[in-house]
Amino acid sequence: MTAHTRRCLIAGNWKMNGRLSEAAALSTSIIEGIDSREDLQALDWLICPPFVHLQMVAAVLSGRQARSPDLAIKLGAQDLSASEDGAFTGEVSAEMLRDCACTAVLVGHSERRQHFAESEALIARKLKRAVGADLQIILCVGESEQARLEGRTEAVIADQLARLPALKQVIIDDMQKHREAAKSQAGQPEPLPHEAFSMDRLASQLVIAYEPVWAIGTGKSAKPEEVQQVHAFIRDRLAMAGWPSASMRILYGGSVNAVNAQALFTMPDVDGVLVGGAALKATNFLAIGEAAVRRIIAPLPKGNEAWLG
Ligand code: PGA
Repeated sequence: MTAHTRRCLIAGNWKMNGRLSEAAALSTSIIEGIDSREDLQALDWLICPPFVHLQMVAAVLSGRQARSPDLAIKLGAQDLSASEDGAFTGEVSAEMLRDCACTAVLVGHSERRQHFAESEALIARKLKRAVGADLQIILCVGESEQARLEGRTEAVIADQLARLPALKQVIIDDMQKHREAAKSQAGQPEPLPHEAFSMDRLASQLVIAYEPVWAIGTGKSAKPEEVQQVHAFIRDRLAMAGWPSASMRILYGGSVNAVNAQALFTMPDVDGVLVGGAALKATNFLAIGEAAVRRIIAPLPKGNEAWLG
């Protein structure tokens, strides 16, 4: 698979914003907006409302998908529990998310790391749960302003990516366990869902979002060249760890809007964006997709790898 087959992903993180009625109006406008524009359907879209709005947004989405089954819009959650169902007051499990028609989840967002003291170890457990529930993962990584000033951007990101080999091992161990269990059963066992996991499958489930902490919600987006440099570093690191990195998507997040998105999308390793503030207004969110579509129409010069929708 070449980098040319990476589809651009436009993801919206609504954070803790809006009431039910606003979430209904926003999701309706976004979904109708995408469905009414054939060019916007060359992109993948993801919307991540608050937990309590998921079911309602799922109903809006499934209503539309009943008429437009090819609509490439997914529903995602902003977080998940690291535990299975049980006595964990206030938590929401991966299985509950699946139950609400969620097919994706953000993991390790810097606001979770910062305000809720999420450690790398906890994030690794959440990754495992998400993989087990077959959810697409958007793993967020990014350096603080201090780390950038000290020239530690790559070291911080390398550390945040260091849990991924462990994730691979979880899958391999799990497959082995299921194979052994199947062998010890009499007769012909049904193929188990985990048998289908391969590195490519896992890689297709995993998206990395580079979100420098200093750029989130500040109006200070990172410069496209800086973003490109970090994305290329992330892709290299993934490759070094044995991932099929050329086929994996790397998003940028941090004060993305329709204007700065245009320059970001000219960077060959930017495969989409994770949008906060600008995802709360349908016209702004759709305009970011329009900027991506313009890049599909006017691809990068030959020799520069790029996603083409
Ligand atoms: P922002 O948020 O677009 O408001 O900076 C991005 C994010 O937190 O994912």
